[in-house]
Amino acid sequence: MTDATRSTASATFASRSGQMAPLVVGLGGAVYPDSPAERILRHCLEARAARAGGLIEALRAADAVVIASPSYHSGVSGMVKNALDYLEDLRDDPRAYLDGRPLGCIACGYGWQAATATLGQLRSIGYALRAWPTPLGIAVNSAWPLLDGTGRLTDADIAGQLDELARQLMIATDVTAWNRRSRADTASRTDAAARGDAT
Ligand SMILES: Cc1cc2nc3c(=O)[nH]c(=O)nc-3n(C[C@H](O)[C@H](O)[C@H](O)COP(=O)(O)O)c2cc1C
Repeated sequence: MTDATRSTASATFASRSGQMAPLVVGLGGAVYPDSPAERILRHCLEARAARAGGLIEALRAADAVVIASPSYHSGVSGMVKNALDYLEDLRDDPRAYLDGRPLGCIACGYGWQAATATLGQLRSIGYALRAWPTPLGIAVNSAWPLLDGTGRLTDADIAGQLDELARQLMIATDVTAWNRRSRADTASRTDAAARGDAT
């Protein structure tokens, strides 16, 4: 059985026009390795980093997160939920849970009903964790042929949706990073004014 940490993928999006690249963490969990949900998560991320030894540290440092869950009995897999419940360790962080982090949600079922129900659950969990689910979430029906014999994604429609999800994540990451920088600037100006520093 694949445990949550083993099936966690993390990746960094390539830097764009000299900007610092945001850290995007992908999280998945399925009962067997190389499941469609995991394949699709890996496709969504540009590169898969070495196995994350510290899921919590990766999520703490993340600028954005992508979660892909298989649909088990029309719900999020126990492994993904178990991994997400470790986020309780971040409850007292300055950025508690996934506060302010853009979140991409992908759900994979052997039919639309389970996939869409699971996608809704992932988005609700995201709100509970104070993340910002992107407008587009992706429901994948793995009853359709999606992957070739080597596990590569061949479905152009899903590939297009993954591109759009990545685009929305990057936009939201820019907005949240700008917001954090602007709050930090305001706080430092307020501190300087309180100390009576000359401006
Ligand atoms: C324990 C278990 C329960 C499942 N329950 C459902 C279900 O209720 N509805 C459905 O459409 N597919 C169900 N599936 C099939 C998976 O959703 C399907 O395999 C899908 O591709 C995503 O999972 P995977 O990435 O592990 O393959 C179930 C699979 C397992 C192993």
